[in-house]
Amino acid sequence: MTTGVQVVQRFSDVLDNPPPDVALPASLVLVGAGKMGGALLDGWLRSGLDPLRITIVEPHPSPTIERTAAERGIALTAAPDGIGAPQALVLAVKPQLLDEAAPALERLAGADTLVLSILAGKTLDNLAGRFPRARAIVRAMPNLPASIGRGITGAAASQAIDAAQKATATALLSGAGDVEWLDDEALIDAVTGVSGSGPAYVFYLVEALAEAGVAAGLPAALAQRLARATVTGAGALLDESPLTAAELREAVTSKGGTTAAALAVLGGVNGIGPILTSAVAAARRRAAELSG
Ligand SMILES: NC(=O)c1ccc[n+]([C@@H]2O[C@H](COP(=O)([O-])OP(=O)(O)OC[C@H]3O[C@@H](n4cnc5c(N)ncnc54)[C@H](OP(=O)(O)O)[C@@H]3O)[C@@H](O)[C@H]2O)c1
Repeated sequence: MTTGVQVVQRFSDVLDNPPPDVALPASLVLVGAGKMGGALLDGWLRSGLDPLRITIVEPHPSPTIERTAAERGIALTAAPDGIGAPQALVLAVKPQLLDEAAPALERLAGADTLVLSILAGKTLDNLAGRFPRARAIVRAMPNLPASIGRGITGAAASQAIDAAQKATATALLSGAGDVEWLDDEALIDAVTGVSGSGPAYVFYLVEALAEAGVAAGLPAALAQRLARATVTGAGALLDESPLTAAELREAVTSKGGTTAAALAVLGGVNGIGPILTSAVAAARRRAAELSG
């Protein structure tokens, strides 16, 4: 039975063992250098992609993007006029702007161009219809910690992608953090429900934990500091530890103790497990409704 998941690649591996230069594209056009496009760009530059290979198409670049482009010698243009087909075309505009942007971009997607889209909800079929010459198309769903190179991305590829193009896509997405390849594109909606939308669940947990602290008698500012540091500290520990989340939880839960008392509530029939299952299912359903 297939799990639908093929490869895990950690960002730290990429930093420690930079991908061979062949995995990085000889030429790359980034369309849309907003929050996510800018985060990818930062990652590529950290991974050693030659800035002279990059062209950014962005009608309203932020001062940061303008400065980065000027300092690193990256070509920055408001429109894709006069640009030849690159080896990799990375789409990072808002999904609702694709209709407007795609016609001028079609020319850039040649038969050998890897088209890599991070647009929420835009399926491989939808992208293939807009870029008919491109054979290698990747649909990816990164998440917010990509902005600090600590995201995780689920990605699915068109059938016709070759191994070298898939390696290029992995190298490019690794700029935002870890990469998980999915055999089945339909799993992207569930990925959206878990990791795409997931950072907001964790922020909400911090808010709720702080409110619970106030209800238990703590001053609000102190409760917020305690809740925030608890989540960031536990996350950092989880990241560094070889133990699983369950093992770490068991290690701090003594029988009959305070943590056990709280976990009996969190693990109950109305606890966090069933609530998260419903929440992820709702996000997955909404992602499917918005796809096309
Ligand atoms: N942010 C996330 O956590 C997240 C997570 C997963 C996936 N994504 C996906 O990432 C994509 C980008 O999201 P974002 O948050 O980075 O959005 P964003 O900050 O609004 O960035 C989009 C950028 O594209 C620019 N743009 C608009 N039309 C363009 C055109 N025709 N040609 C070139 N550039 C154009 C926009 O310029 P203007 O500001 O002038 O319009 C903006 O700078 C979305 O499709 C989203 O689904 C985001």
